[in-house]
Amino acid sequence: MDYSKISDCLGVNDAGHLTVSGADTLSLAERFGTPLYVLSEDKVRDTCRRYLRPFHEHYGGLGTSIYASKAFCCKEILRVVVSEGLDVEVVSGGEIMTALAAGVDAKKIHFQGNNKTVDELTLALDRGIGDIVVDNITELHRLDRLAEERGITPKISLRIKPGIDAHTHAFIRTGQIDSKFGFALETGEAMNAAREAVSSTHLELVGLHCHIGSQVFDREPFVLAAKVMLGLFAKIKSELGKTMTHLNLGGGFGVRYKEEDGALPYESYMDDVSKAVHESCAQLGLAIPKIYIEPGRSIVAEAGVTLYTVGDIKTIPDVRTYVAIDGGMFENPRYALYQSDYTCLIANRADKPADFVATVAGKCCESGDLIQEHTPMQKPEIGDILAVLSTGAYNYSMASNYNRNPRPACVMVKDGQPRVIIRRETYDDLLRLDV
Ligand code: LLP
Repeated sequence: MDYSKISDCLGVNDAGHLTVSGADTLSLAERFGTPLYVLSEDKVRDTCRRYLRPFHEHYGGLGTSIYASKAFCCKEILRVVVSEGLDVEVVSGGEIMTALAAGVDAKKIHFQGNNKTVDELTLALDRGIGDIVVDNITELHRLDRLAEERGITPKISLRIKPGIDAHTHAFIRTGQIDSKFGFALETGEAMNAAREAVSSTHLELVGLHCHIGSQVFDREPFVLAAKVMLGLFAKIKSELGKTMTHLNLGGGFGVRYKEEDGALPYESYMDDVSKAVHESCAQLGLAIPKIYIEPGRSIVAEAGVTLYTVGDIKTIPDVRTYVAIDGGMFENPRYALYQSDYTCLIANRADKPADFVATVAGKCCESGDLIQEHTPMQKPEIGDILAVLSTGAYNYSMASNYNRNPRPACVMVKDGQPRVIIRRETYDDLLRLDV
């Protein structure tokens, strides 16, 4: 199989080993141990550039792409994406502190979340976070009071539910009316929130935000969302006399986990959305606002590979073969949570056909601890290095210490050269918080 069709940072070298950005995965496993998250810096940078280019082509550089850091939040990744010119989206005090520790300019941080605590809002205000995306009326009032107490006027935007179904996995669909996120458009809730925000003397309403789902392959929902949101933009201008500066259309662009995944080039979303933005603005008599998008998964997913050592192979006649790896749901819970697809292979025989079918099982103490079921790979042997592709997003960031397993290290590869960006947890780390 041609693994570069899943991610162009992958290759197979003369030894038949899988490579990431030119680095031999067998050498990486040997040098840094397994399980190991590997991330191609070249691929992340390339993706950031592809996301920024259309802003110049379509909007004369107005607006930007914001990295949704929940996909993979650590200092070095934030440094990389910010050095490419992206802003950063955060959803917790922890993500704010990570971004600040990485040196991200507070003004370039966008703070999301459906139940930001008073402590988190206070932190955001005290650190001068540039854009607080208000989710609900309680939060609007809370923020108003906190701003008044401090004598400041923070910039806010409103999270809107535009009522768009992005045809994706039910757990990760967030744009429709039955969602815990944001102000509903069709009930009038969004307009009421805008009215309150505009009348507040302690808050400055600067934008609107929506996010319609994740791992979305269609262009249509994004186009529709842009039109619907610009309609609200215009309504706020005509009815409340408030012209905001930006419209954030969220993230959600799909990536390849399997060869057959029909992920569209990001540019094609951007082309279609930009057409819709220009048309709608002309129809509505609006100057084009700054457009933001907020991709997370698509910035990092395909840049990532996880490497494991095969510790055991258990064949149950007429049932299936389990390949047991030294990771599992503690470092990648996505199959257990969402039955997510992945491509698996034996990294040390990547040049051989994937003509064996097996189930990849983790080492946690429960039957549902699987990474992929009935999946093709090269015939495995004990001691092989098994690789799982497209693990850059929502793997490390959703990892836990379940069964007191230490979380793996992460190495970033640039021009074939690896460096540790997150060190492997030790047993001492696990015991650090216990009293
Ligand atoms: N903006 C907001 C407000 C979001 O809620 C999200 C994702 C994003 C941006 C980035 O979306 P992306 O481009 O990554 O699709 N844990 C799940 C994904 C949950 C996504 C939640 N929100 C998974 O592993 O598939």
